[in-house]
Order: sequence, then structure tokens, then C-alpha cells
Amino acid sequence: MNDTFLRACRGEKTDYTPVWFMRQAGRYLPEYQAVRGKVSFLELCKDPELCTEVSIQPVDILDVDAAIMFSDILIPMEAMNLRLEFHEGRGPVFPDPIRDRQGVDDLLVPDPDEAMPFVMETIRLLRRELKVPLIGFSGAPFTLATYLIEGGSSKVFLETKRMMYQAPELYHALLAKITECTSLYLQAQARAGAQALQIFDSWVGILAPDDYRRFVLPYVQSIISDLRKVTDVPVIYFANNGATLIELTRTAGADVLGLDWRIDIRDAVARVGDHAVQGNLDPVALFLPRDQLEARIKRILDNAAGARGHIFNLGHGILPQTPPEQARIAVEAVHRFSGR
Ligand code: CP3
Repeated sequence: MNDTFLRACRGEKTDYTPVWFMRQAGRYLPEYQAVRGKVSFLELCKDPELCTEVSIQPVDILDVDAAIMFSDILIPMEAMNLRLEFHEGRGPVFPDPIRDRQGVDDLLVPDPDEAMPFVMETIRLLRRELKVPLIGFSGAPFTLATYLIEGGSSKVFLETKRMMYQAPELYHALLAKITECTSLYLQAQARAGAQALQIFDSWVGILAPDDYRRFVLPYVQSIISDLRKVTDVPVIYFANNGATLIELTRTAGADVLGLDWRIDIRDAVARVGDHAVQGNLDPVALFLPRDQLEARIKRILDNAAGARGHIFNLGHGILPQTPPEQARIAVEAVHRFSGR
């Protein structure tokens, strides 16, 4: 078993810098498209054999040092009793967004093993097949709440901020319920065999630090401190577009802080304290000619040299237009430059 990724998460010495890519299982791979051509996205998420197949694809094709289970952050929101649809080209849609007390009261906090057995089965199947560590994941409560309140993806998050600022009690009641669900969900993933857990806070970058501190951070802290009571798997917290929040996100309790590409990783390393870091190549760098791509990779590796641990990754998910060969070149370059 190649445990380089787990060692880096824990801040232990590694022979080389491990690398994986957010959204590495997905549409840029023709092999994923072939599976996805036969089923809808939600059907795929609920089929453990197919989830296992598409989770393994990038490990075989790219030679990355970790696998992430195939699922979606919104799967547990459906299990909370919400209608969830995925529309081609438009992304996720919740046709009945949550805007009032009744909406919050109608949410269930499901037993994850009963409501999402397919996720736990995927984890068990993957653990039998994989020679690299398996990452489980969830959305962070705030990021999940934006989808529930907006009814789907958003750019300005008007309804979310309106609820947060004008109806804080309702907002906090919603967040508390999502947090309880997420906490149980991540604990169940660890029990099923996930070896690291990543919490995706994709949209916190829209918040002022003081609002982040009041309305977001306590819920992430609560999930991670609950996890610590039952498991020692490393926790990665990815606060996308979070350069202005590092002094706060470093108090979340995670082992590893994920970094987007908008911050120089050297500055981040100086500010994260006793954490390992994960990141932070601009996903668009994967479209560059080889020499330019390699120069950017080298720069990140050099600038992260002082980190307690570094896991190379993109600053956000791999884009569907990415040529797979370019992703493979990047993985090989990370390994070569860092001494594998
Ligand atoms: O490889 C992996 O990273 C594992 C699988 C994974 C998916 N979604 C598969 C997926 C993971 C970890 C996610 C997380 C996720 N989902 C996030 C957080 C990460 C981030 O990017 O910030 C968010 C915000 C979502 C919500 C979501 N799911 C959106 C906005 C979309 C539409 C995106 C788009 O480009 O269409 C999805 C759908 C989705 N999730 C796809 C995949 C492979 C595409 C679905 C398809 O095959 O048509």
C-alpha cells in the first residue's frame, strides 16, 4: 500500500510529494463518459460497482497517490428528504428551496448507513481494490446550505445572505441540522473504511471574515471535533477562495488546509501554522505547453518546501475540457521534481 499521501497529511516525512486532483473522477476522462453514457448522474452515484469503477479510473490512468470515492456533496441532502435533480448543462437543482421554518422542520437527519448504503458499499469495495489511500468527503454545512436556500448553483448568493443577515435564527437552525447530518455521514464513511476525509467549502469566498467567523466556522469546528472522538483519520478542509480567511480556517481543527490558486503557497505556508497544505495549481495550467506547465509545478513545489506536509493538487476541480494526457504529465512532473 502506497501511504505517502496519508503520511503527508499527518506531517510525516515522505520520499516525494504525493498528488491527486479534485474532481479527478469525471467528465474529462473518456472512460468516465463511457460509463456515464449508460446511466444518469444520480443513478451512477447510487451504483456501488460503477462508483468503484470510475473512482479507480484516474488512479490507473494518471498514477495519482490517492483515490476519492465517487459521489456528490448533495447526495446526503437528498437523504434529508429533499427533491434533488441534475439538469444537463445547469448542474444541481432543488425544486423546493428552503426559505422558512417549515422547510427546516421538514428536514430529516438520516442514519447514513440506512439512507445511503450505496456510499458505504462503494467505500468497502474500493478498499478491497485500491493500492492507494481512499478519501471520503462531504460538503461543508455552509456550502450545502447555499444549494438548499438558492435551489441550485448561484453567483451572488442573494437568498443565502438574506437569510443569514435578516433571519439569523432560521439560518442557524438550518445549519445545525445540516451539520448533524454531515457529522454522522463522515463518521459512517470512516467506519466503512475511508482513510482520509475532505470537507469541501466551495463558496465561503463570498463572505466577509466576520460573517465567516459567526456563520460558518463553528459548524465546521463541531464536525471535526466530533470526528476526533471516534476516528483518527486525517481531515482536509478546503475553503475555496479562502486566502483572506486563513487565520480563521486554521482554527477549524483540520490536519490539512486546502488552498486555491489565488494565494502564493509560500505565503499560505507562513500563515497556516502547524498544518499540512494541499494545492494549489490553477486548473487552467493543465492547458499549457509542457515546459510552462512544468515551470508552474516546480514553482509550487519549491514554494511549499517549508510546509509541515504538502499534498500537490489543483486549486479547484479539474475542468471537463482538460486533456487527460496533460493531467498525466502533471502527475509525472510532480513525482519527478520531488524525487520519486
Ligand atoms: O473525483 C471526485 O472529486 C469525486 C466526485 C465528486 C463529484 N462532485 C462528482 C460530480 C466530488 C468530490 C464532487 C464535489 C462537489 N459537488 C462539490 C464540491 C467541489 C467543488 O467543485 O467545489 C460541489 C460544489 C458539487 C455540486 C455539483 N455536483 C455541481 C455544481 C455539479 C455540476 C457541475 C458541472 O460542471 O456540471 C455537480 C455534478 C457532478 N458531480 C459531476 C461529477 C463528475 C458532473 C455530472 C455529470 O457526469 O454530468
